[in-house]
Amino acid sequence: MSAKSGLKTRTSSPNARFEWKEHTPAAFNRPLSVIEADHASQLAVCRVLDRLLHNPRHGADAQELVAVRDYLRLQLPLHIADEEEDLFPLLRQQAPADDDLKQILAQLHTEHDTDRRLNDHLCSDIDCLITGHALADPAQFLKNAFAFSEMQRRHLAWENAVIVTRARKSLRKADQAELGRRMAKRRGIQSPV
Ligand SMILES: [Fe+2]
Ligand SMILES: [Fe+2]
Repeated sequence: MSAKSGLKTRTSSPNARFEWKEHTPAAFNRPLSVIEADHASQLAVCRVLDRLLHNPRHGADAQELVAVRDYLRLQLPLHIADEEEDLFPLLRQQAPADDDLKQILAQLHTEHDTDRRLNDHLCSDIDCLITGHALADPAQFLKNAFAFSEMQRRHLAWENAVIVTRARKSLRKADQAELGRRMAKRRGIQSPV
């Protein structure tokens, strides 16, 4: 990731403050790099959740909690739609007879459903942490944060190792350009520059 690509550089230190920015229009000229950058952000969210698991009230301050909640609420659904509606169908088209790929995509699809469900609960609980209100069920928050973080790490490892690697090898330039256009459009950007 670099300033040239339009993608934000992020640090991987476990205690680094989580922050995110919307991708620039130019970033969508390299849609697979946008997906990888999103994966790096999602991993950084997991690191904040790890801190909250040890210390729900003081594992992150309000500014960082707002960044995490907004990322989960605004960006994660866009990323899941990029994969479910655009990237995965392109990969299926490339290899319609590949049963291994079908199985992997089916598993990732199931995990996206779980992501969406846990995400709703986590965002509501993080709202409580931001405003200083009591959590409705602290034990359930810890359970959800652990489940989300654990599943997300496994999910990201599969997507980076199998899906993105395969997409880089098999998608033609025209497919990648179309993928970038569709991802940009989903975010209200008409055409990458
Ligand atoms: Fe992903
Ligand atoms: Fe995914």
